[in-house]
Amino acid sequence: MLIREIQPEETWPLRHRVMWPDHPIDFVKIEEDKEGIHYGLFLDENLTSVVSCFESNGEMQFRKFATSLDHQGKGWGSKLLLHLLEEAKKKGCKRVWCNARLEKKGFYERFGMVDTFNRFQKSGKDYTIMEIRF
Ligand SMILES: CC(C)(COP(=O)(O)OP(=O)(O)OC[C@H]1O[C@@H](n2cnc3c(N)ncnc32)[C@H](O)[C@@H]1OP(=O)(O)O)[C@@H](O)C(=O)NCCC(=O)NCCS
Repeated sequence: MLIREIQPEETWPLRHRVMWPDHPIDFVKIEEDKEGIHYGLFLDENLTSVVSCFESNGEMQFRKFATSLDHQGKGWGSKLLLHLLEEAKKKGCKRVWCNARLEKKGFYERFGMVDTFNRFQKSGKDYTIMEIRF
């Protein structure tokens, strides 16, 4: 297992397959991608899990967190999340947050993230903002 920074375009196929397979691939590309830091977790050189981080005003938002379908539930996403939390701490970020799919709330709570109860809907899905402060 290896985690390293990757280019934004490397994240797109996995994001697409895992998160929005019914939309065209352009749907998963975001304007901010070129300003982000993107981490990839590789298993035998295969990109297996991705996450994209955006820093602003001493805070980091992570977005588009996705593990390939055949490798979900094996702990790889947890390793990647722990990695980005460590990196955020090293950079001196005071807060890390994400717009979490509501059904993933329990997953993030396991890492000390808390529900801010800022809820919203987008593209037919329910979200809540989860955060951790250092
Ligand atoms: C969210 C996501 C990135 C997590 O990645 P992952 O690699 O599956 O993460 P993990 O394997 O570390 O954890 C997933 C679950 O498996 C469990 N798990 C971890 N290791 C495990 C193991 N060895 N054996 C059994 N279960 C395990 C975790 O406890 C977790 O349970 P939960 O979902 O009930 O909280 C992945 O589910 C995904 O891509 N989902 C679709 C896209 C998405 O929803 N993205 C996030 C939007 S907020």
